Amino acid sequence: MPRFVTIPALIDPHVHFRTPGFEHKEDWGTAGHAALMGGVTMVFDMPNTTPATTTLELVQQKKSIINQTLEKYKRTLRYHVYLGASTDNIQEISRAKKEIVGVKLFMGASTGSLLVDDENNQAEIFQECARLKIPLAVHAEDEATLQKAKTAFTGAPTIFNHGTLRPRDAAIVATERAIRMAEKYGTTLYVLHVSTKEEIELVRSAKKQGIAVYAEVTPHHLFLTEDDLHNLGNLGKMNPPLRTGADQTALWAGIHDGTVDTIGTDHAPHTLEEKALPYTEAPSGVPGIETYLALLLDAHNKRQISLEQITRLCRTNIQKIFKILDNNDTVTIDVDAVKTIRNEDMTTKCTWSPFAGTTLKGWPIITQIKN
Ligand code: DOR
Ligand code: ZN
Repeated sequence: MPRFVTIPALIDPHVHFRTPGFEHKEDWGTAGHAALMGGVTMVFDMPNTTPATTTLELVQQKKSIINQTLEKYKRTLRYHVYLGASTDNIQEISRAKKEIVGVKLFMGASTGSLLVDDENNQAEIFQECARLKIPLAVHAEDEATLQKAKTAFTGAPTIFNHGTLRPRDAAIVATERAIRMAEKYGTTLYVLHVSTKEEIELVRSAKKQGIAVYAEVTPHHLFLTEDDLHNLGNLGKMNPPLRTGADQTALWAGIHDGTVDTIGTDHAPHTLEEKALPYTEAPSGVPGIETYLALLLDAHNKRQISLEQITRLCRTNIQKIFKILDNNDTVTIDVDAVKTIRNEDMTTKCTWSPFAGTTLKGWPIITQIKN
């Protein structure tokens, strides 16, 4: 017997929809479809495109391509975009302020060319975002720690060395510094994809001190660990890497005590051909938007999370942190529907999911944008 419940539609605050430059991995037609399949009616798009979204003009150009693509494929999707911080675009933050949802800072290099690893440059960005009251979203992996790990590594690495080459310390050190800077300058800090127990502790203690720090976790860190690399191979390569069961437990504890504010998918599609390359050449990132709500509904059926918590983490907290106007969008779910995730059902252009083969109970049925 289907059991239908209608809840507010989700917001995904962290997606890489790949326009412009990487439309062979995803475009706003396929991604728009995948979003609706995942119960999502609003996304915040990341700037690590080609060219990277680092100026007001590039923000405007990206929006115009997105609008044309949505129109062409007759898709409706609400979206906002991030401005990417670089070492020489500080003036663009005030210029683009009205057009962006936040500024994205890569403290360590990941996919794409965006990187600001110098502490003084980082501090300037924290100060400017504080002055303009713009949320600063950080990819918190410290570049110097990543480089040190790379230099120390000998031999030919495989996917099983990903966590050694991008060690947890890189994430911990960067998150610690970001919190210190947010405190010093009064910046609204949004820590993307928190993956370790120590970062959860840092955020928990910063919140107790009244620092404006918010933590995001991803579905892949909530539902996969480094043990899954045996099945996934390079499909499980992402930054920050999959961590231990103890880390995963800490992320869930963070959800339950309010340390974790949001869930963002970090939807980062790459083609299966790209992922089939040897470890060092295979790009980091996994698609996630399409399975966002179903994974959480399955967790709900296992009594790990309530529907109210899902709405807070995947919608209302995001609206508050980023000052987003409310809307009446809904998603109707069948709490009892049982279905197995299959690559051939995926509407994302990359046509795969790291969760393929997983059977979930609880699925979105219809996602509605109400104007
Ligand atoms: O795994 C990742 N993939 N981490 C990032 O920081 C970027 C993303 C991508 O764009 O592919
Ligand atoms: Zn990302």
